[in-house]
Amino acid sequence: MIEIQENIPLASWTTLGVGGNAMYFAVAFAEDEVREALEFVQRRNVPFFVLGGGSNLLVSDRGFPGLVLRIAIGGIEPRQESSGVVFRAGAGVEWDSLVERTVAANCAGLECLSGIPGSVGGTPVQNVGAYGQEVASSIVRVEGVEIASARKVAFSREECGFHYRHSRFNQQDAGRYILTFVEYALRPGGEPQLAYTDLKRHFADTLAAGARPSLAEVRQGVLEIRRRKGMVFDENDPDSHSAGSFFKNPVVSREEYARIAATSTVPVPHYDAPEGRIKLAAAWLIEQSGISRGFALGPAAVSGKHTLALTNRGGATATDIVRLKEHVEAQVLGRFGVQLQPEPVLLGF
Ligand code: EPU
Repeated sequence: MIEIQENIPLASWTTLGVGGNAMYFAVAFAEDEVREALEFVQRRNVPFFVLGGGSNLLVSDRGFPGLVLRIAIGGIEPRQESSGVVFRAGAGVEWDSLVERTVAANCAGLECLSGIPGSVGGTPVQNVGAYGQEVASSIVRVEGVEIASARKVAFSREECGFHYRHSRFNQQDAGRYILTFVEYALRPGGEPQLAYTDLKRHFADTLAAGARPSLAEVRQGVLEIRRRKGMVFDENDPDSHSAGSFFKNPVVSREEYARIAATSTVPVPHYDAPEGRIKLAAAWLIEQSGISRGFALGPAAVSGKHTLALTNRGGATATDIVRLKEHVEAQVLGRFGVQLQPEPVLLGF
């Protein structure tokens, strides 16, 4: 039987560490408990929110007037298939422990996603990506429970509708399902992905000698780079008390990019995106709009290691974070005419 608690502070369940209370709070260790939680919200007629790792979440100071359900469904099961080794993981598995396990098994496909906070269930929702890899290229199946009907559902990769930081689960079907299991097809003995500039630079000597780093070395390399950027959660590193990137990298038309490039005396970092569009670096736009690393408004500050992360320097409220967010947005809009979009999930606003 699932235990429902009342008036539980949510701040400590998030890496940003701000926000008010959940009216109700529960932890589900199995699919049955997810159904019990659904029965509870139907009986009480209260809204419902699914909490994963809390690493991509900004909770309002008012908190949430419904049930926050933390998914703690565990288990990692590899199985051999014609397409490679498929790792099936519970939505509550800590993401990096899955990555570590797959790298130790010498299976390629997730190594560049090392050190990302959060849980397995969050990865298909925003199509987690870093250092040239996205979960969209390895996910083969996503399972869940439909909230309205309590029925079991399953989706193939194609049915997930993956794009940059997008899937059906944060678009047309946002709030419709609770994800319970995800399956990733990986390549045993496969080569690591070395596509991202930072990563190629990190292994420049190895590559120059005509060698390839192993999957384990790439994992270590990614962890080092992320730590340098304050993007690995560490109690002792205030720059990591964030929700990761606070803004998405804007994807604009070629004309829009040309307009922006014409206003800049220095080259504008940009990357090719699908459908002939151009992805800009939000961190660069922020810095060029006059906001340096470490810029603070009260206890909310831009990370000292990366302008894309907003951090809680201790004692910040959600209001402080939102004030900084709005300041950053206004600066970038004023300088470049680009409206930044927040990347984390906003709860209770
Ligand atoms: N830059 C700055 N100032 C900074 C940092 C970066 O101007 O303080 C510029 C540089 O020109 C740099 C460019 O921004 O080349 C891009 O920076 P970086 O390589 O650090 O990547 P990012 O675009 O800021 C994205 C993801 C990260 C992911 C990294 C690595 C988004 C919103 N963010 O960041 O994901 O780890 O690439 O692949 O797509 C997250 O989503 O929470 C996240 C951390």
